[in-house]
Amino acid sequence: MKATRYFEYGSPDVVKLDYVEKPVPTDNQVLIKVRAASLNALDAYMIRGAWLNRLIFGLRKPRDTRLGCDVAGVVEAVGKNVTQFKPGDEVFGICRGALGEYACTFERALVMKPPNVSFEQAASLPLAGLTALQGIREGKIQPGQKMLINGATGGVGTFAVQIAKSFGAEVTAVCSTRNVDLVRSIGADHVIDYTKEDFTKNDQRYDVIFDNVCNHSFTERRRVLTPKGICVLAGMGGAGVKEGQAIGRIAGNLFTARGLSSFTDQKFAQYMTKMSKDDLILLGDLMQAGKVRPVIEQTYTLNDAPEALRQLDAGHARGKLVITIGEESR
Ligand SMILES: NC(=O)c1ccc[n+]([C@@H]2O[C@H](COP(=O)([O-])OP(=O)(O)OC[C@H]3O[C@@H](n4cnc5c(N)ncnc54)[C@H](OP(=O)(O)O)[C@@H]3O)[C@@H](O)[C@H]2O)c1
Repeated sequence: MKATRYFEYGSPDVVKLDYVEKPVPTDNQVLIKVRAASLNALDAYMIRGAWLNRLIFGLRKPRDTRLGCDVAGVVEAVGKNVTQFKPGDEVFGICRGALGEYACTFERALVMKPPNVSFEQAASLPLAGLTALQGIREGKIQPGQKMLINGATGGVGTFAVQIAKSFGAEVTAVCSTRNVDLVRSIGADHVIDYTKEDFTKNDQRYDVIFDNVCNHSFTERRRVLTPKGICVLAGMGGAGVKEGQAIGRIAGNLFTARGLSSFTDQKFAQYMTKMSKDDLILLGDLMQAGKVRPVIEQTYTLNDAPEALRQLDAGHARGKLVITIGEESR
């Protein structure tokens, strides 16, 4: 089968289309005929060989050369212990190696695709949607509260705006000039264009800041939090952030956030996204009900996946970049 692979760390130019053996599911796995996959900042970090990833995925070169974790497709075969899925089911979820014609994953990482949702829409949801939903929960947002989303127009941000609105929050979105209309169209009540205005310098106070970028100091963010406000540290800037900046932001988040949270009523909450079947079902329901509409900037074929990864790596994706894997890629 055809699949996207990377055999060394570097720019997206190291990504190659390759022909590999079709994967075989273990007793607990499901084999999916992939119909669509979407890209995440994580894919860009993996290819670049960010230092944290190297500790886990291979110091000099990647041990696992597969790419892509968000998948939607049709169940082709199931292992003998799989009880929840059968061949022909349309599913979406998380796997290793979504950027290929077939992928295997565990049944706990998959849910049924709502019938009125396309494979492209379903594939855009898993990691970014879970990150947005779980981060909003960390912020303990209540209906009517004010929430600011910094980095509102990437994969995570576009879901965060819509999920926060569905929870009843009054949402302020921070983005660049070209995305102002986009965030309004997905429901943001207020928009701050970061190229013209610094949100930490105005007089507004927020109950929750959902920070996808972490490009302001803790003091600056505390200034615009309410006295018992929560700043959720979701990320450190998306696919385009330089490694040096990322290390600074991660270190700040790890050490300063914890210390500050123990000495003041304002909290800085850090979290890692977890695979949760219940959360994926909830997100699928929100999408089916039209409360969450994935923003897909562009779709590519599998042949063009390296080009899509280059676009992601530039750091200014509008919503999601999706790879459609159909007959034309075979
Ligand atoms: N906590 C977790 O477990 C977890 C899981 C998944 C992802 N994440 C993190 O979440 C973050 C977002 O991921 P993503 O997939 O949404 O990334 P992405 O799709 O690459 O989006 C990045 C967004 O950041 C915006 N941006 C860049 N510079 C900005 C600035 N100075 N101020 C405000 N916005 C700015 C860009 O918007 P413009 O084009 O308008 O500049 C772009 O839309 C990443 O840091 C990622 O690592 C964390």
